[in-house]
Amino acid sequence: MYTPVFILFLSLFYALQPCSAAGASDWRSRSIYQIMTDRFARSDGSLIAPCDPKERRYCGGTWSGITKRLDYIQNMGFTAIWISPIVQQISGETYEGEAYHGYWPQNLYALNPHFGSEQDLKDLVNACHARGMYLMVDVVINHFANQGEIVKYENFVPFSNERFFHSRCPIDWGNQTSIEYCWMGDGFVTLPDINTEDPQVIDTWKKYLNSAVSQYGIDGYRLDAVRNIPKPVWSDITRSVGVYMQGEVWDKNPNIICPYQEHMGGLHNYPFKEMATTVFTTPGGNLADLVEVAHQMQIQCKDVTLFGLFMENHDNPRLGSFTNDMARLRNLAVLNILTDGIPIVYFGQEQALAGSLDPLNREALWLTRYSTTNNLVPTFTALNNLRNYIIKSKSNAPFVSTLATYSLLGNNAMSVRKGNVVLVITNSGQGVNTDVVVEGFGAGVELVDVLACRVMHADGSGRLKVTLVGEPIVLYPASLLTGSGICSM
Ligand SMILES: *[C@@H]1O[C@H](CO)[C@@H](O)[C@H](O)[C@H]1NC(C)=O
Repeated sequence: MYTPVFILFLSLFYALQPCSAAGASDWRSRSIYQIMTDRFARSDGSLIAPCDPKERRYCGGTWSGITKRLDYIQNMGFTAIWISPIVQQISGETYEGEAYHGYWPQNLYALNPHFGSEQDLKDLVNACHARGMYLMVDVVINHFANQGEIVKYENFVPFSNERFFHSRCPIDWGNQTSIEYCWMGDGFVTLPDINTEDPQVIDTWKKYLNSAVSQYGIDGYRLDAVRNIPKPVWSDITRSVGVYMQGEVWDKNPNIICPYQEHMGGLHNYPFKEMATTVFTTPGGNLADLVEVAHQMQIQCKDVTLFGLFMENHDNPRLGSFTNDMARLRNLAVLNILTDGIPIVYFGQEQALAGSLDPLNREALWLTRYSTTNNLVPTFTALNNLRNYIIKSKSNAPFVSTLATYSLLGNNAMSVRKGNVVLVITNSGQGVNTDVVVEGFGAGVELVDVLACRVMHADGSGRLKVTLVGEPIVLYPASLLTGSGICSM
């Protein structure tokens, strides 16, 4: 007779468990797969439903679609997902299309019905947790969205009055005050700028962010448009919400980005992404420029290992739009996963999709049939597997918090040493031979290139001579791979 009571007790116990409340150091060991919810997977599992990114319309991706495709993500070794903003948006078609991306919020207390029900969202979070994966939700705190010139404040929940907003002015992007107080958007979709300095507004945001964490089980937030809100407001918000938050400051200058880390867990590493993309997709790109940016991020930022390490996202042209050389893309994949920071791979990057500027970089992934061959899936899988194994094996100093050292190897190659991992990468391009000598190994040590599963040996002076053929090499000591399953060891 006590069984039902016991079960009730158990379910209460689990329901009342604090959600994982994942902090910065928990996230540092993760590898994130970034999803645009509308474009990743549909509830019906369709592989043919048409989707033309140019039209900027909803294509039917949902939270339950993601839940059904978690195998695809987890099999590549990702341990977290980042999904589009979840809240209700402006509805209907505008001159700039529909709000399929989630960056046109209108009601904080309702979910975007295009993405599913509250239960669908909870099911997705629970499915992630059951696999030991985290879920990060994108959130827009800076603005609400309004269709047309005349702002209908009464449509906004809960900021349903003009007094919750800054007065209207166009942003002068060369003036930080203007960036923080003026409005984004245009005459078709206006983005009224929320007055985040109002204590009542901040209080509402803190309560919302905390309650969404406990209600849905969210493990972290991705903060949109961080540069459009004053820094002290961010401190106030991040101090009172107990999960890791990673912010977007879209700038390639470490001087601009680094100061923001005093106010939140981490940011997207835009400086590194911009430079890596430039020097690895442009023939003759100067690798010294990348070494310099990486160094500046290490010395100017509080902790670059808490930054998001990414090469593509929903706002920038895909790498495949700059080059169709798979060797170049694989070199970038290596940097994407195994140097300083929390790796973030934008959905479709593993398929080498080639969409250029927004909205073309938001292709429906189902049209690739989630293929796992003849693309970058095997590469990302091998890279994540190595990183996850090193994190789990704890066989040496914590890999994720050890800073990388970058060295040039002539004009077209470089090495990145992080803990016991040595990346040897080149921007020569597919099939072009580049002889390099990598120094600093133990005498005669046996090394495995985990991408090609090839064994190599350093010479008696700890040097490794190797000819790159445009492809990257990822070296790890063979002795530390015993029992790992990596390269059948
Ligand atoms: C910067 O923008 C603010 C807000 O619009 C404005 O008051 C100020 O005059 C601007 N400063 C300069 C130097 O243009």
